Amino acid sequence: MSKLTPPLPRFLRPAPPRPGRRPAPGDNGTGPPGRRTGGKRKRGRVLRDGAAEGGTAAVGWLDERSGLSPFLRGFLFRKVPKGTDWFHTLGSATMFAFVSQAVTGVFLAMYYEPDPSRAYESASYITNEVFLGELVRGMHKWGATVMIVLVFLHMGRTFVFGAYKYPRELNWVIGVVLLILTLAMGFTGYLLPFDQRSFWATVVGVNINASGPLIGPYLAEFLRGGAEFGTTTLTRFYALHMLLIPGLIGALIGAHLYLVAKLGTTAPPWLKAEKKELSREEL
Ligand code: HEM
Repeated sequence: MSKLTPPLPRFLRPAPPRPGRRPAPGDNGTGPPGRRTGGKRKRGRVLRDGAAEGGTAAVGWLDERSGLSPFLRGFLFRKVPKGTDWFHTLGSATMFAFVSQAVTGVFLAMYYEPDPSRAYESASYITNEVFLGELVRGMHKWGATVMIVLVFLHMGRTFVFGAYKYPRELNWVIGVVLLILTLAMGFTGYLLPFDQRSFWATVVGVNINASGPLIGPYLAEFLRGGAEFGTTTLTRFYALHMLLIPGLIGALIGAHLYLVAKLGTTAPPWLKAEKKELSREEL
């Protein structure tokens, strides 16, 4: 183990053998309570210790084969700078919103049909007939807005704290791609209910894309799945919305977090200012 690896947390360390406990012949400590083992309390303790040791053994088994624990310990028990506060939770909040979108999206995909003649009916069916369907659809719809608000707040925080500077430029660039992909999730998801509003809003959105320089017309044709809005447009948006874009977001969040763990987070700028003032006083 490297010197920099933080120690294993107490709940994962194997319990030391209890002094003075000599098992009677044939008593492996898990037998039924009785005079010999000291009654209910002792049996409860034995079971609890057994369960804890079982858990530790399972973690040990997994660690021996995967070698994950130094990485996880470094990631979960790393030092954070002085002044770390609620502003630093915005990235994790964005990630939580993404996970919530992925989970609710899986349940919606169990009932939604990406066929122009069935999409609207299947979405209405989810709201009106499926058990908790309205709740799950509402969570997914409002969760999209929440994720977009959070990603902007998180970006604002990293900008104000100067976290885009050396050596975190690459993480900023990954963040920009994540922002674009998050907005693309909102755009591709908007068409799926396939009502009048979502249809015409998407027509407008695709036309705006078409007016972009150089790649604009190609991008619009790719999104439509042809020269005109047709049956392939909906299936294309569905595939982008539930396979390609979330897959990319998941992979990029992995890279983003790897860099956060490797480079650490940035202290608030007002702490640095305080430090400077102090050193000036000292001079
Ligand atoms: C799906 C979207 C995103 C997720 C899930 C996400 C997640 C995170 C998490 C969990 C952290 C560590 C905790 C924190 O500092 O808040 C972080 C840090 C960071 N993120 Fe993001 N992020 C996302 C988008 C963005 C965007 C849009 C940008 C900027 C364009 C960005 C730039 C950064 C930077 C520079 C750091 C390092 C912060 C520091 O050194 O203090 N991220 N991100």
